[in-house]
Amino acid sequence: MMGPKAIIHLDRLRDNIRAIRQRVGKTPLMGVVKANAYGHGAVAVTRALQDVGISFFAVFTIEEARELRAANIQDPILVFSHSQPENFQEAVESNIHLNLCAPDDLPKIQSFCASYGASPVFHLKLDTGMTRLGLSFEEAVDVLRQSKTIPGLRIDGCYSHYSTADEGDLHYAHEQHRRFEEFLARADSMGIRFAYTHFSNSGAVLNLPESYYNLVRVGMLMYGAFPSDEVPTDIPIQPVMEFRGPIVSVRRVSAGTPVSYGGVYVTKQETTIGVIQTGFADGFPRPWYEQGHVMYKGQPYRIAGRVCMDQFMVDFGDTRPLPGEEVLLFGEGADGRLTVDEIAKKTGMTTYMLLTAIGGRTRREFADGN
Ligand SMILES: Cc1ncc(COP(=O)(O)O)c(C=O)c1O
Repeated sequence: MMGPKAIIHLDRLRDNIRAIRQRVGKTPLMGVVKANAYGHGAVAVTRALQDVGISFFAVFTIEEARELRAANIQDPILVFSHSQPENFQEAVESNIHLNLCAPDDLPKIQSFCASYGASPVFHLKLDTGMTRLGLSFEEAVDVLRQSKTIPGLRIDGCYSHYSTADEGDLHYAHEQHRRFEEFLARADSMGIRFAYTHFSNSGAVLNLPESYYNLVRVGMLMYGAFPSDEVPTDIPIQPVMEFRGPIVSVRRVSAGTPVSYGGVYVTKQETTIGVIQTGFADGFPRPWYEQGHVMYKGQPYRIAGRVCMDQFMVDFGDTRPLPGEEVLLFGEGADGRLTVDEIAKKTGMTTYMLLTAIGGRTRREFADGN
């Protein structure tokens, strides 16, 4: 079958976990496998993470948690989205941990506990400054106070999320951390200790060791890319996804030939134009055409003209690739290395956008280094 291919190097994923562990020490990691494991394939990635001893996972939706359960993955899974009462029973029965992040969650939880006789495990989410999901300090204190009157209620976790942990200026992140600490101290004074306290993301793994607590949430770093271009990069991670596209047509054109929509790319001399069967409908980043290149046999070749929905063109100069051969779109493999970090920097996109976009007709193949 022709079309884009994402080779997922599970051996590199496991090596990345080893590198992250070198950094965070013995604190357990929570593998963030939402959005189909950032485009890498949630089930295969989760299993590979289990192989290296990760036993707590996070997704965004209950459907993503179900996908892992259907694949017989039994470890606890935290669902980051705002929890819904219709999922409470399933959460209890399937060991799915839920997010307690709004004051009006509590009456719904209370009535469920009273009628069902058991509580899902909740992680209380404190908004320390992201202004997304989460309770304010006062709301969270109030929830803790009321929670003492709800028999069986399980608030086993407490967490928050950084908005600037991957920036050069960590001033605001330190303020968020201070607010979280203040809340933990208040909870402590109420006699409440949480089994799971977690705050880190990839940026915090690199920048804020004080926020490791007893569980470290990690996504982007384990996939082998950096959360931004402002973080220290002194951690030996490797790109897990090798994104490749097939050359489906090759032809010589004369100087002055316009290529693709709008004719914005015009050949300067006689050259070889190859058509790659991968387009923005497969997640290939359209803005990359302005400065972008692909790798073929260790050499970079410019993208020629606008990326189309299903294909784009490459200017191979005097190189004569053969139809049926492939180019490296990003990642690392026999054709060389081109990181999503570089593409993100040059397109004004982020590594998160680039990786999670990969889909469409992309075929995933899992490689294990053997
Ligand atoms: C709540 C939460 N925790 C952790 C992460 C993982 O972040 P990262 O991929 O930067 O490690 C995310 C990802 O966006 C998130 O939303």
